[in-house]
Amino acid sequence: MKKSLLTLIFGSALFLAACGGDDKEQSTGGETAAPNGEKIVMQSCTTCHGGKLQGSGAPALDKLGAKYSEQEILDIIINGTDKGMPPSLIKGADAEAAAKYLAGLK
Ligand code: HEC
Repeated sequence: MKKSLLTLIFGSALFLAACGGDDKEQSTGGETAAPNGEKIVMQSCTTCHGGKLQGSGAPALDKLGAKYSEQEILDIIINGTDKGMPPSLIKGADAEAAAKYLAGLK
């Protein structure tokens, strides 16, 4: 029981690490620093959500923390929605940092 749980946690950590590294070299520089959620959002999300996240084609994200939890936001970032939010624009640690930043906007 304990052992399989550990394997699961370790397995998903590896999975996330693998996903984070593949195609996003340019985002935040040094590998050791945690990704900067605000910077990632400003680079990847403003074309549709507006330069100040005030909404343009897509809904505003500037008070997202009042509407969704960090986990729900991460889920939308990873899976997208069937009404036009594309999945997997950002991945792994970048997606987590962006979700954390957005969850803090209220
Ligand atoms: C290609 C345009 C596009 C880009 C780029 C984009 N989005 Fe979206 N996003 C949308 C659209 C359209 C919707 C509305 C979809 C819906 O109502 O289901 C949406 C909805 C969302 C929602 C749900 C908002 C709500 O109030 O329910 C979240 C959260 C979100 N986007 C986050 C992001 C983040 C974070 C990024 C940057 C990584 C991003 N989006 C980049 C088009 C985009």
